[in-house]
This record gives sequence, structure tokens and C-alpha cells, in this order.
Amino acid sequence: MTNAVKTPEQIAKMRTAGRLAAEVLEMIGEYVVPGVTTEELDRRCHEYIVDVQKAIPACLGYRGFPKSICTSVNEVICHGIPSESKVLKKGDIINIDVTVIKDGWYGDTSKMYFVGKPAPHAERLVKVTQECLYKAIEIVRPGTTLGDIGHVIQQHAEKNYYSVVKDFCGHGIGDVFHEDPQILHYGKPGTGQVLEEGMTFTIEPMINAGKPGSKVLRDGWTAVTVDRRLSAQWEHTMAVTADGVEILTARKEESF
Ligand code: MF3
Ligand code: CO
Ligand code: CO
Repeated sequence: MTNAVKTPEQIAKMRTAGRLAAEVLEMIGEYVVPGVTTEELDRRCHEYIVDVQKAIPACLGYRGFPKSICTSVNEVICHGIPSESKVLKKGDIINIDVTVIKDGWYGDTSKMYFVGKPAPHAERLVKVTQECLYKAIEIVRPGTTLGDIGHVIQQHAEKNYYSVVKDFCGHGIGDVFHEDPQILHYGKPGTGQVLEEGMTFTIEPMINAGKPGSKVLRDGWTAVTVDRRLSAQWEHTMAVTADGVEILTARKEESF
């Protein structure tokens, strides 16, 4: 299976996993406040996934990742490791990325939170990055190409004088965390693989306020902007339907 096409029965299982992942993001929101540590956010998510949802946090132990969620603050692009020493402060922006496994199937989603009141430039980056995800989702249907998806994201980011991170991408997903195809967040219209009904994948644009470059810290995971300016990310898992797309990780606050 190289094009990630799933059966309706398989998508039904992904719908369940996706809903659980979305519910973790809904649950954790009220705890994202000044003074909390990212370790505490991780602990709350871990306990909710394991004890309440009876599911598995996919990140824990994945290629040696030590925690159950990723917490990426300010200049961290992705894969931030929750830590007792990372205390959130007013004005921070944080991405929380949750992947759960339920009945062997995966749901992967992330959103941005504000810690207290954001600076206008931070709020704008977060908003434009969410628009990048939504504009990409809008064109997902059979016949759309992966290049089309990358293009709308890149266009919207660059029109706003931001840059697209090229070193990380979205991915096919199913009973495997990361599978083909890679979903690049930049590209040319009409190029690349053509979407078909039943394909399941993530779109998860990482958009930088400054230059697109990233580097991974000595912990082997934390990816930061080379210029240390802000980065934002939003992610959904979706399935291509006969005439559009179903967002498997939609939250109550969203209307698709
Ligand atoms: N959830 C991330 C993604 O969107 C992957 C995190 S892998 C981890 O693909 F090991 F860092 F947790
Ligand atoms: Co993902
Ligand atoms: Co993710």
C-alpha cells in the first residue's frame, strides 16, 4: 500500500482514533496557562489517553521519543520534548501534537495555544498558519495533486511574508504512524501524486516568521528555527471521500 488507500472499515477505525486525539487537544486547553510545565501537560495527556480513553500514546517510545506528546514552544518548530524545566510564561505560543493508537489505528493532530495574551505578531503567525491548513483542506478531493496542496500552503504563507519549513512534512497514516506518501507543504500545481478516494494522510504545515531553516538540538529531537524567530504548526488527519474530504481529527470548535 503505497498510496494510503483504506477501506471504509479501516477508515471507521481511524475515525475513532482521530476523535480521541482531537478530544485530548480539547481536554488540555484549560491547563495551558502561565506557570505550568510542559511535563505537566504531558502527564495530563498521558493519563487521559491511557486511563480514560484506553488508548495508546503513539509518541511514547516512538524511535526513542521519551514522552507521550510533543510540546513546541515559540522558536521550536516541532518535536519539542516535554520537560519539568520548561515553564510556560505569558505571551508564549505552544503547539501540542497528539497521536493516539486505538484498536491498532492512528489519529494524529496538533493545534496552537496562547499562554495568556499573545503579542499581535505571534497571534498573526498562528492565524495565518491555521489558514494555510484550512486552505489546503479546502482543495482535498479526488483528482487534486499533492503539488496542489503544497502550492496553496506556500502561496498563503509567502503572501504574508512568512516561510514554509521544508525539512518536515505531512504523511500517510493508518495502522502505521508514518507511511507514504510524504505531504510536502510547498509545491507546484498539477504535479505529484493524484489523490484518490480512501487515501488517509496528515497535512501539518510548519510556518516560520523568519527564514525557513531548521536545526535539531543536541537532544536529537527538538527542531528550532535557525534564526530563533517564531514558528507555528497546525495538523489534521483526513480521509479523501468521493467528493471531498473528511477531517478525522476535527474538534468541536471547528466546522468543516
Ligand atoms: N506527531 C508528529 C507528526 O505529526 C510526530 C511526532 S514523532 C515523536 O508526525 F516521536 F516526536 F513523537
Ligand atoms: Co503527523
Ligand atoms: Co502530529
